[in-house]
Amino acid sequence: MLSSISITLICLSLATPASPAPTSSFALRPRQLHSFPTYDDIFSCPAASWPPVSIGDLLTPQLPDHELQKILAEIDPARIEAIIASLASFGTRHTLSSQTDPVRGVGAARDWIAEQMRSFAAASEGQMEVTVPSYVQPPDGDRILFPVRISDVVATLRGSVDPDRHYVVSGHYDTRCSDPNDFECDAPGADDDASGVAVSMELARIMATRRPAATIVFAAVAGEEQALYGSQYLARSYKNASVNVQGMFTNDIIGSSTADDGTKDPYTVRLFAQGSPTTESAAMARVRATIGGENDSAARELARFVVGVAENNYTQMNIAVVYHYAHQHQNTRVEKGKQYGDLIDFVDFEYIARVGRVNGAALWSLANAPASPRNVTVNTTLLSNNSQFQWLASNESLLAGYEILWRPTDAPFWTHAMPLGKVKTATIGLSKDNVIFGIRAVGRNGYGSPASFPFPG
Ligand SMILES: *[C@@H]1O[C@H](CO)[C@@H](O)[C@H](O)[C@H]1NC(C)=O
Ligand SMILES: *[C@@H]1O[C@H](CO)[C@@H](O)[C@H](O)[C@H]1NC(C)=O
Ligand SMILES: *[C@@H]1O[C@H](CO)[C@@H](O)[C@H](O)[C@H]1NC(C)=O
Ligand SMILES: *[C@@H]1O[C@H](CO)[C@@H](O)[C@H](O)[C@H]1NC(C)=O
Ligand SMILES: *[C@@H]1O[C@H](CO)[C@@H](O)[C@H](O)[C@H]1NC(C)=O
Ligand SMILES: *[C@@H]1O[C@H](CO)[C@@H](O)[C@H](O)[C@H]1NC(C)=O
Ligand SMILES: *[C@@H]1O[C@H](CO)[C@@H](O)[C@H](O)[C@H]1NC(C)=O
Repeated sequence: MLSSISITLICLSLATPASPAPTSSFALRPRQLHSFPTYDDIFSCPAASWPPVSIGDLLTPQLPDHELQKILAEIDPARIEAIIASLASFGTRHTLSSQTDPVRGVGAARDWIAEQMRSFAAASEGQMEVTVPSYVQPPDGDRILFPVRISDVVATLRGSVDPDRHYVVSGHYDTRCSDPNDFECDAPGADDDASGVAVSMELARIMATRRPAATIVFAAVAGEEQALYGSQYLARSYKNASVNVQGMFTNDIIGSSTADDGTKDPYTVRLFAQGSPTTESAAMARVRATIGGENDSAARELARFVVGVAENNYTQMNIAVVYHYAHQHQNTRVEKGKQYGDLIDFVDFEYIARVGRVNGAALWSLANAPASPRNVTVNTTLLSNNSQFQWLASNESLLAGYEILWRPTDAPFWTHAMPLGKVKTATIGLSKDNVIFGIRAVGRNGYGSPASFPFPG
């Protein structure tokens, strides 16, 4: 997982439920629709414009269009099973294992993934490029015992309209046993994390022949078990090259629909979304704390977006958004220590296919929407019941206009929306003290972007 990377990537991490409620078949769990309290419910405040005038509409989820429905239907549990079986057959994929043995070790696995990705790219009419960027990691006094080459496999599907804007999905292909430095023991890593690599590969295969507006990157990274080395290298390379990465999903241990305590919920995936960014300047962090913006980091807006586009009858998945990011990461490490052998027998391919559909719906919806509005600010000088916003106008050809979203201050998901048109300022008759606002861009195809949170300006 990428939680410790200190750059401006927006990282979400998906994982199997820890302790889900038993479910026998798929049913969409209704998201609570928060109705606004009435004036009398709250308090008497003459400047509060409460209850709010009836503006806007209840926000409805963005259902997959015909092409996205086809993409989701093509995600094939049998292909996922074949990918995981091949990855598990390399005996071990430990980062310190052989890089030259043709059948056993991390090098053979790397070459096989790259060859598969190249075969998908062959059907892309030159739009998908496969690279294997690598560097030599020196000993770190911990889990790197000798200098070792760390290689990522990266398939980049170039956007047809806005190729600079990137979205990344990754899984890690390295594995471990109980002793993280034992590179000779068998470590098949079917769940941790051939399952995540299978999602990157299956989506690469299906999307290679299609033309998303923005660029999508399908990655298999190495060195995760030794200290996230491969993903850090990928992130740093992007940062070095000033690549505009607007979102990233990492799939780690998404292979089992049965929790440690034996309960089974094959229709839920946990989506970890970080709160206040650790990379924000001290001044920005102070402002965020002052205005109660801790639930509205870019990662949280991305998580709300994923729920909106990927929790539906087409993915057959409910999405449990987890806000306690660092804590859960800790738990996952402990669970891993308890694994007795990460064999393919414990993996549920239909479940992985559904997690793949959640990723596919999110990536496709991101890459075909306009970019989120930039530099969104709320006017805090304006002392009235109205709220006034402004943002940078975009000349994107994808763009139809903007929408304002809002929710009660204690609600986790957007509840309301109102179209604004193709403008760069808006004043609406709701008080900024009563609701949390976001502004999103909407494409001519009807696809909405993740919302941008307005800072005072
Ligand atoms: C990033 O750039 C620095 C300075 O040019 C260089 O030393 C470093 O190797 C680069 N890192 C990556 C991951 O590209
Ligand atoms: C999902 O499918 C079920 C069963 O066909 C149906 O009852 C339900 O209304 C659908 N839900 C949505 C939100 O489309
Ligand atoms: C937009 O925001 C960025 C980051 O905060 C800032 O560096 C830039 O100057 C802003 N641009 C404008 C035109 O306000
Ligand atoms: C903010 O509101 C004040 C008071 O109405 C107004 O004078 C000012 O121009 C507004 N600022 C912006 C950037 O629109
Ligand atoms: C806010 O709305 C209330 C109720 O409609 C009204 O009495 C009050 O004058 C308004 N305040 C301002 C500053 O416009
Ligand atoms: C948008 O404006 C930039 C310069 O501000 C220009 O380089 C770009 O070509 C324009 N894009 C479109 C789609 O008009
Ligand atoms: C943050 O989200 C949680 C869960 O929805 C909510 O209980 C809390 O009030 C929110 N805090 C703020 C400041 O929005």
